[in-house]
Amino acid sequence: MKVVAVLLLIAATASAIEWADLLVKWSRSGEDPSHANSFFQMPRTKSDAINNSWIEVTGLTSLNLTVYCYEEGDGRVCLEYDSYGNIAGIQAAVLCSDVENVQSIYNRSNLNQYQIKTIFDEEYWTSTIYFISPETIAAGGRSEMNGLTGTEGIWIRTTDGFIEIPRNVSEWDSAWTKEACVSEMGNLRLIPPYCYLVPCVY
Ligand SMILES: *[C@@H]1O[C@H](CO)[C@@H](O)[C@H](O)[C@H]1NC(C)=O
Ligand SMILES: *[C@@H]1O[C@H](CO)[C@@H](O)[C@H](O)[C@H]1NC(C)=O
Ligand SMILES: *[C@@H]1O[C@H](CO)[C@@H](O)[C@H](O)[C@H]1NC(C)=O
Ligand SMILES: *[C@@H]1O[C@H](CO)[C@@H](O)[C@H](O)[C@H]1NC(C)=O
Repeated sequence: MKVVAVLLLIAATASAIEWADLLVKWSRSGEDPSHANSFFQMPRTKSDAINNSWIEVTGLTSLNLTVYCYEEGDGRVCLEYDSYGNIAGIQAAVLCSDVENVQSIYNRSNLNQYQIKTIFDEEYWTSTIYFISPETIAAGGRSEMNGLTGTEGIWIRTTDGFIEIPRNVSEWDSAWTKEACVSEMGNLRLIPPYCYLVPCVY
C-alpha cells in the first residue's frame, strides 16, 4: 500500500550558499536516522528525467514549463522544466482519496497555495514551488543553470500568483514564525501552516 502522504523538502547539500542538488522525501523522526532511505535525487534536467523514465504530463501548469511525473499512476512528485530543459520547480501532491477521512488537516481549499489537480485520472491536493523567478520562467528559463538548482529565492505558486521566499532569513516578513516542527523539517514555517502538504524549506 502506498504511503498516505508524501512530505518533501528541499535540501541544499553542496554548501550553505549554492543550491547544487535537489533531494526529496521526509521520514518521520527516528525512522531513518542515517537518512539511508530518506533522500532521493531528483533529475534536474529534462533529459535526465526522460532517461530515468519520468512521464510527461500535460495540463498541470499554465506556465511556460513542461512537467514530468515520477511514474505512471503516481502523481505525488512531479518536476517542472523550462524551455531549455533545466529544472524550474517541483510539485508535490497528496492523493485526495488518501486523505478523505482527515479533511480537517488536509482539506486546504481555504488556502491559495494549494490546488486540486487531476493527475493520471485521479485528484490530488498539489503544491508547487519554483527555484527561478516567475519572470525568468516566462522568458523561457535559464539557458545555463551552471549546476545550480536555484539562485535568488523560492516562489510558491498560488491560485492567483506567487509568494516569494527570499533566501536570506533576514528578509522574511512577519508571516514567518518559528515553530516546533519535527527536526527534519527545520523550525520556520509560513503561516498558515505550510508543513502539512509540503514543501518545507530550510
Ligand atoms: C541514462 O540512465 C542510465 C541508467 O539509469 C545511465 O547509465 C546513463 O548514463 C544515462 N544516460 C544519460 C545520457 O544520462
Ligand atoms: C474541502 O472543503 C470544502 C469546504 O468545506 C468543500 O467544499 C470541498 O468539497 C472539500 N474538498 C475536498 C477535496 O474534499
Ligand atoms: C516560452 O519560452 C520560449 C523560449 O524562450 C519563448 O519563445 C516563448 O515565447 C515562451 N512562451 C510563452 C507562452 O511565454
Ligand atoms: C543576510 O542578511 C544579513 C542582514 O542583512 C547580511 O548581513 C548577510 O550577509 C546576508 N547573508 C547572505 C548569505 O546574503
